[in-house]
Amino acid sequence: MGGEEKVNILLVDDQPGKLLGYEVILSELGENLIKAGSANEALEQLLKNDVAVVLIDVCMPDLDGFELAAMIREHPRFQKMAIIFVSAIQVTDLDLLRGYAAGAVDYVPVPVVPDLLRAKVRVFAELYRKTRQLETLNAELERRVAERTAELAQANSELEHRVEERTREREAALAQVHEMRKVESLGQLTGGVAHDFNNLLMAVLGNLELVRKFLPSDPKIRRLIDGAIQGAERGATLTKRMLAFARRQELKPETVDVPNLVDSMVEMLRRSLGPGIQIKTDFETDLPPTRVDPNQLELALLNLALNARDAMPLGGRLTISAHRERIGASDVPGLQPGDYVCIAERDSGEGMDEVTLKRATEPFFTTKGAGRGTGLGLSMVDGLVAQSGGAMRITSQQGAGSTVELWLPVAEAEAIERPRPVAPQRVQESRCCRVLVIDDDPIVLAGTAAMLEDLGHTATEVGSAEQGLKILQSDASIDLVITDHAMPGMTGTELAKRIRRKWPELPVIIATGYAELPGELDPSVPRLSKPYRQQDLAAVVAQLVGEQPAAEPAALNAAVG
Ligand SMILES: Nc1ncnc2c1ncn2[C@@H]1O[C@H](COP(=O)(O)OP(=O)(O)OP(=O)(O)O)[C@@H](O)[C@H]1O
Ligand SMILES: [Mg+2]
Repeated sequence: MGGEEKVNILLVDDQPGKLLGYEVILSELGENLIKAGSANEALEQLLKNDVAVVLIDVCMPDLDGFELAAMIREHPRFQKMAIIFVSAIQVTDLDLLRGYAAGAVDYVPVPVVPDLLRAKVRVFAELYRKTRQLETLNAELERRVAERTAELAQANSELEHRVEERTREREAALAQVHEMRKVESLGQLTGGVAHDFNNLLMAVLGNLELVRKFLPSDPKIRRLIDGAIQGAERGATLTKRMLAFARRQELKPETVDVPNLVDSMVEMLRRSLGPGIQIKTDFETDLPPTRVDPNQLELALLNLALNARDAMPLGGRLTISAHRERIGASDVPGLQPGDYVCIAERDSGEGMDEVTLKRATEPFFTTKGAGRGTGLGLSMVDGLVAQSGGAMRITSQQGAGSTVELWLPVAEAEAIERPRPVAPQRVQESRCCRVLVIDDDPIVLAGTAAMLEDLGHTATEVGSAEQGLKILQSDASIDLVITDHAMPGMTGTELAKRIRRKWPELPVIIATGYAELPGELDPSVPRLSKPYRQQDLAAVVAQLVGEQPAAEPAALNAAVG
């Protein structure tokens, strides 16, 4: 049987001698032979065992073989079992039909031919075995299909989940890009507007100052003029903020000791925030210096403090702290890995809801109502730290206060503290000289010329660098050149280079309205920030054409506000 499972064969006959005879014949098949001497016994055995073939004697005393077969067939479990009839009497065609109707599958006539009986039983036993094997295989197959289907369903749902996740990530990235583009174009627009506006303010301020000088000193008129000057100065502060937000302000980075800088501001902050707000500072010992424009950092910290004040109308506490931290990849968005000084201003104010927090750094976003906030405070601070190689991070919760962190790069070890340039305070006397003034904006040009003439100098006005060069070629009496930087055609920096090559002794001052691209300006050329006042102009002229020219041509800043 080749290791194959044996099947059961049930032999039913009322004569023990005949049963024995079948047993002898069939034992050669190597299957299990079960004997039953009556119909009852046969049914009992059938219920106990899984039977492949039943061999039934048609004529038994207490039960007709056909009846037994019919009973067997009625049971659903036995419907596929093979029933072979053994018949001692002559079987008529009618009997045959009755037998088949009762469920027989075959007949064996008496006298039994052993080979025939064996052959028939073997075929059915084999059929039964194969059917069982097939069923087992089928069940296994179904199990595997079910298993595989479950695996596929799982993989499918994982895939769907991943697709959803990726889609969400992509949408978030797109939204970020969109936001960045929006801020960038707003920055360009703001920068452009601020630049032109700055020039206009320059003319307004310059002319007002001259008007104040020339008019009789009537206190009424003075008050009006002073009001106009104050208004123009406020406008200049606003343009500065706009330029800062657009990351186009002129920065003068220095090595700054943050605790020193903050300590020197605390008194001023106390006065600005009022007695209801307690100010605390907390600095890590041995904090390394950072590199940033100290004036702009002060302005930024003041802006944050004012925001804190506005968030604490009933008073509270403002803590300014600083610590050093090494940043790894992607610890703080927008920061390159490296060493930073983190300055934090934490308030105990009303905090921000999610929408406000999200939009807080957006330029012109304010919750303070028209006329109370410009919405440029945080954008300016953000612009400053970004332009200084750092980043800003705001955390806030409604009702639980806000913290604004400014991350600024640690100054290189070899950076040497330079003394902060002292803005000239008094108008210095200088000899009268001939100044060539170059600006493509006629209003600014006229304003500067008027201020110079009022100081006793002679001004020659031209609208382009090219025209300026022509004048210099024909007029050797020019003592000084004051030129705008951003002009169509040749820029002020390019002009300064040419002048230095051809007339190395001739001093040149570049007047700039906003920071040009880094490296675009020659740091050795003295600069004057627009809008400048007459006293700034007087000071720089005196410095450059006076008896003792300045050893280091400092960038002279006349920042308003
Ligand atoms: N410390 C803070 N606590 C709660 N809300 C704040 C804080 N700082 C900023 N905000 C919110 O962010 C908004 C934008 O601030 P931002 O400084 O840019 O402009 P502003 O303060 O409204 O105007 P300006 O700075 O010109 O006075 C504020 O209007 C306010 O809603
Ligand atoms: Mg503000």
